[in-house]
Amino acid sequence: MSQQQSREPIKFAYWVPNVSGGLVISNIEQRTNWTIEYNQKLAQIAEKAGFDYALTQIRFTAGYGAEFQHESVSFSHALLHATERLKVIAAVLPGPWTPAVLAKQITTINHLTQGRVAVNIVSGWFRGEFQAIGEPWLDHDERYRRSEEFIRCLRGVWTEDKFTFAGDFYRFRDFSLKPKPIEPLPEIFQGGSSRAARDMAARVSDWYFTNGNTPDEIAKQVNDIRQKGAASGHQPKIGVNAFAVARSTEAEARAVVQEIIAKALPEAVNAFGAEVKNAGLASPEREGNWAKSGFEDLVQYNDGFRSNLIGTPQQIAERILSLKDAGADLILLGFLHFQEEVAFFGDQVIPLVRELEARREGARAAAE
Ligand SMILES: Cc1cc2nc3c(=O)[nH]c(=O)nc-3n(C[C@H](O)[C@H](O)[C@H](O)COP(=O)(O)O)c2cc1C
Repeated sequence: MSQQQSREPIKFAYWVPNVSGGLVISNIEQRTNWTIEYNQKLAQIAEKAGFDYALTQIRFTAGYGAEFQHESVSFSHALLHATERLKVIAAVLPGPWTPAVLAKQITTINHLTQGRVAVNIVSGWFRGEFQAIGEPWLDHDERYRRSEEFIRCLRGVWTEDKFTFAGDFYRFRDFSLKPKPIEPLPEIFQGGSSRAARDMAARVSDWYFTNGNTPDEIAKQVNDIRQKGAASGHQPKIGVNAFAVARSTEAEARAVVQEIIAKALPEAVNAFGAEVKNAGLASPEREGNWAKSGFEDLVQYNDGFRSNLIGTPQQIAERILSLKDAGADLILLGFLHFQEEVAFFGDQVIPLVRELEARREGARAAAE
């Protein structure tokens, strides 16, 4: 286990369903919708339920049956306008975006929403999508080299006057962004778990987002990042994906997952499985997201079943604490029926997590 578990209350985020088809590649009924009306109501439910963040997805073309996709930055802005406290993380791909455009765009949203916008810099796994929009496709580790420059430039533009940068991918000369974002600066998340992703997190990102996994596997990633961060003096926080199915009995919850998998769309899952070979498996060390994912994992397209938040609220709360012990600072959640299940999670699971955390803090304080 990681030696670095946080004593802060664990944070909760949910995946914004801004692409069609929900969060599982399955014909099972999903009372989830990708429209702005559905999502604004969902964001309001989520902030009332105790969620801290919402994470949008960036997709230019269907990848896993997600036939329709709303753009992430503008959609995030619309959600921020419908809410008061929720932070919304806009997913962005270097390539289609440049750091200059994003720095300007996010600064304006930051001013319009009292600093509630954040970004998720994703390095890309979907070659077909890049080809479709005429973007050059870089090798795995080159994508991360570009993302790291992207993040350095974003932060540089946000914090420095006369920002100057001469990189392999981006250049700035005496650029002074005015106005700068209001403090605290927009948080910079990243997604991916290959060695290149972990190296980048340990150097420049505020948050490292990874696919669903067991506490032991998460702890390995966290320990690697902590070691690397010790050398660079930078320690990102950790966010872990999970697909939550909370029901009154474990059997009921497991039956839901079985039905999701039984009704999976094999063609779409297999096509997705073929595309994601451009991610972790394409890295020199052949680690990273989806490097070990089987058919059943891929049905939830960020390996969300592996985190095992499937069962009763009590079981789920305990497993969240195990992920926290492994080093997670945030749990990112997907659901089958978002509006109902986000409300249920806030009502039934989050209070149990807070109870377990308080009990643990009490025990710690007594021991100290
Ligand atoms: C939580 C999370 C969210 C992500 N969101 C997106 C996204 O919206 N669009 C996208 O193209 N890729 C997204 N990705 C994919 C990553 O950017 C990356 O391409 C993938 O995880 C493979 O990285 P790896 O090879 O370093 O493991 C996301 C990944 C994670 C973990």
